[in-house]
Amino acid sequence: MPLTFTFDPVVTPELRDGILDLWADVTDAGGAVGFVPPVTTDEIRPELVRQLVAMAEGRSRLLVGHDEEGRVAATAFLTLNTHRLMTHWIWLYTVMVHPRHQGRGYGRGLLAAAEEAARTLEGVEAIRLTCRGGLGLERFYASCGYKEVGRVPDAIRVAPGDDRDDVIMLLPLA
Ligand SMILES: CC(C)(COP(=O)(O)OP(=O)(O)OC[C@H]1O[C@@H](n2cnc3c(N)ncnc32)[C@H](O)[C@@H]1OP(=O)(O)O)[C@@H](O)C(=O)NCCC(=O)NCCS
Repeated sequence: MPLTFTFDPVVTPELRDGILDLWADVTDAGGAVGFVPPVTTDEIRPELVRQLVAMAEGRSRLLVGHDEEGRVAATAFLTLNTHRLMTHWIWLYTVMVHPRHQGRGYGRGLLAAAEEAARTLEGVEAIRLTCRGGLGLERFYASCGYKEVGRVPDAIRVAPGDDRDDVIMLLPLA
C-alpha cells in the first residue's frame, strides 16, 4: 500500500508528535537526519520547532507521507533560500522514511513527491541537498535523478574519530 503524500499539511498536535516519533525512530535505527542514536523526542523537539517557525514564516514547506493506518511514515522539508541571488533553487532537508517501511520504494516515492511539489514553486529551477557520506545514500539519491556536485571531506563528526564527508547532491528541474 503506497504512502499518501500531503504538501503543506495542517500542523496538528498529532502531526507534530508523529514527526517527532518518526525522527527519533529513524535516528535510533541509524538514519542520518541530524542526530546520532540514542536520541529522545525531547532532544529533537527544538529542531522541529525551528522548522515549524520557518514554515509559519513561509520560508519552509513540509511534505509528509502517511501510511495506510494514518501514521506519519515519511517527511521532507522544502526550504526556500533567503539569499537574494539564490532564490532559484531550494534545499531539501530531513528526508526520512520510517524503518518499518524502508526498502519498499517509499523513499523514491517521497523524492518524486518532493520534486513534484518543487515544480509548483514559482521560479524554482533545482533542488539541492546534502547527505552524510559512508552510508550509500548517494546511491539512493542518484536513483532518484540527483547528481553529486560536491563533497566536503570529513565535515560531519558523527563521533570522535568517525568523521564523514558532507556530500552535496543536485537535481535540476529543467
Ligand atoms: C534513505 C531513505 C529515505 C530511503 O528510503 P527507502 O524507502 O528505504 O528507499 P527505497 O526503497 O525507495 O529505495 C530506492 C533505491 O535506493 C536504494 N537505497 C535506499 N536506501 C539506501 C541506502 N541507505 N544506501 C544505498 N542505497 C539505498 C534502494 O536499494 C533502491 O535502489 P534499487 O531500486 O536499485 O534497489 C530511508 O532509507 C531512510 O529514511 N533512511 C534513514 C534516514 C536517512 O538517512 N535519510 C537521508 C538523509 S540525507
